[in-house]
Amino acid sequence: MPGSSDAPLRLAVLISGNGSNLQAIIDQIANGQLNARVELVISDQPDANGLNRAARAGIATRVIEATKGQKRREYDQRLIETLDPLAPELLVLAGFMRILSPEFVRHFAGRIINIHPSLLPAYKGLNTHQRALDAGERFHGATVHYVTEELDAGDIIIQSRIEIQPDETAAELQQRVHAEEHVIYPRAIGWLRAQLRSDASA
Ligand code: GRF
Repeated sequence: MPGSSDAPLRLAVLISGNGSNLQAIIDQIANGQLNARVELVISDQPDANGLNRAARAGIATRVIEATKGQKRREYDQRLIETLDPLAPELLVLAGFMRILSPEFVRHFAGRIINIHPSLLPAYKGLNTHQRALDAGERFHGATVHYVTEELDAGDIIIQSRIEIQPDETAAELQQRVHAEEHVIYPRAIGWLRAQLRSDASA
């Protein structure tokens, strides 16, 4: 259900924690840099700070916690049942710390994006900053990519690369990468909006 050419892109954002990337998206929408609307923020963690950020911006929130013994597919089915009525045009994973089932990824095929704190395909998974330092890398950064059934392996949309400083700690590096994330994630969403809208009018 593509929107008209000037309609905001309808987003759903999935979080588990601090939500600084969510905040960057909210801010870019508020200042007119990004023509989008966050229809819903979903968290699997009830105490995620990102829920407060969403509430402050007047965005609807839902907490969907995993229950004991629940299969990944069953959890994801709850996500699908929550998301489908909203018909989001793009699902934005912003620090959502769960792996999504193949069924979920197929259901929203081509409409899920993620931000990962490394220059993919290098350093998939966790602890990316420390691993980049330990390997003596010269460069590190962040990647926005499509989500596919394989973890951190979908097509890359945009990357930001920074040079690692001498004696930089993992915490310092993480902070600088985070600042890059806040630039490239809203930018990627803006690009995808332009692409979706031009496809719709073709
Ligand atoms: C970011 O580092 C992002 O790359 C990773 O999870 C973190 C989320 O941070 N996927 P925040 O919750 O947006 O502050």
